[in-house]
Amino acid sequence: MAVTVSTFQEMKRAGKKISMLTAYDYTTAHLVDEAGVDSILVGDSLGNVMLGLGDTIPVTMDDMVRHTAAVTRGAKNALVIADMPFMSYETSAYDAVVNAGRLVKEGRANAVKLEGGTEMADRIQAIVRAKIPVCAHIGLTPQGINAVGGFKVQGKTTSGVKKLLEDAHAVQNAGAFAVVIEAVPAEVAALITRQLSIPTIGIGAGAQCSGQVLVNQDMLGMFDDFTPKFVRRFAEVGALMKQAYREYDECVKSGEFPTKEHCYATPAGVLDELGEL
Ligand code: KIV
Repeated sequence: MAVTVSTFQEMKRAGKKISMLTAYDYTTAHLVDEAGVDSILVGDSLGNVMLGLGDTIPVTMDDMVRHTAAVTRGAKNALVIADMPFMSYETSAYDAVVNAGRLVKEGRANAVKLEGGTEMADRIQAIVRAKIPVCAHIGLTPQGINAVGGFKVQGKTTSGVKKLLEDAHAVQNAGAFAVVIEAVPAEVAALITRQLSIPTIGIGAGAQCSGQVLVNQDMLGMFDDFTPKFVRRFAEVGALMKQAYREYDECVKSGEFPTKEHCYATPAGVLDELGEL
């Protein structure tokens, strides 16, 4: 059964946890989907883990559309949410609708995600009015690193908690169907989750959120540039890949690969007919 935004609401009501992982390509999306993960986020974290850009700031709409289209071709059941990249929605509600529209029309995403709370409520409202479901993203918002001075845990002061609660209610009132909460103390995320009727998806926000999301390369142990405290490695795929690459390199150099079983045979007589060339 394909997961929809209504499934998210039903799961929150039934107290069932929602699983979400990022993916950026067809093959990975297919594997994540077949594993039964509820939702795939085509995160702008592709700037870090796919494009090696160091952060998400330079990611473009064209990057997001191309990767979203690859993911939606691979995902049959998971709800695919595409991130709106930096400066694709901040400029105006009009730009927000046009760019969200591209992710749905060209990328075939089921929903879009954007960063921000109260200050982005009008953008969320405009996109939802255009019949595109929006997942909000509050707490640590990586597109704002230049404004907040780096990757910092949010909601550690009374005023910080009040701001997070305001943001959470603002995005819910604007029509968001879910909200990602990033790098926030567990008790604060639990409080937000209790207060909201829409599901909360935590990343570094504790176990009481309605669901969890992780970056694929982080949870597979494939990305070492930076590992946040909240990452759990469910496998050491990076080490396995390196081992396989080393073996391949050795086998090519030693002549152990390819062997007869990997080669095409010439039909009988063809070489004889050619004679000695
Ligand atoms: O871009 C991304 O992968 C994200 C997650 C970290 C939530 O926004």
